[in-house]
Amino acid sequence: MNRILIINGPNLNLLGRREPDIYGSATMQSCLAGLRSAFPELSLDYFQSNSEGAIIDKLHAEGFDASLTGIVLNAGAYTHTSLAIADAISAIDVPVIEVHISNVHAREEIRHRSLISPVCRGVIAGFGLDSYRLAILALLK
Ligand code: DQA
Repeated sequence: MNRILIINGPNLNLLGRREPDIYGSATMQSCLAGLRSAFPELSLDYFQSNSEGAIIDKLHAEGFDASLTGIVLNAGAYTHTSLAIADAISAIDVPVIEVHISNVHAREEIRHRSLISPVCRGVIAGFGLDSYRLAILALLK
């Protein structure tokens, strides 16, 4: 059975309440329920933290597990700032797909730069919460 881990970074615990014009009004819990019914054969784990170090610790803890198919990472604003998360992704074996709910390239210039894109397998951005489903499809291929 494939196992995939979704990691969400800072402020993504507020999905559904946070700037709904940008991020929509659905919660991550309803997104996860939809993903679990869309992919019944998949074991889907979820981790969210507002702390850079906790995200790095999770990448270290899971990233050498040969039975893990991949990690879907929405690093939130750390995408644009965290060389430490980029280094953690480089260090691990498991492939990581970078995901964004919004189209970061259509937003403020500071969001156009990602420190993690060069070390991720690929990037999916701009499809709302469906970005997570598209990333899972990419990992399962
Ligand atoms: C985000 C985009 C980031 O720029 C922002 O800081 C977020 C969410 C997205 O999913 O669109 O927190 O990663």
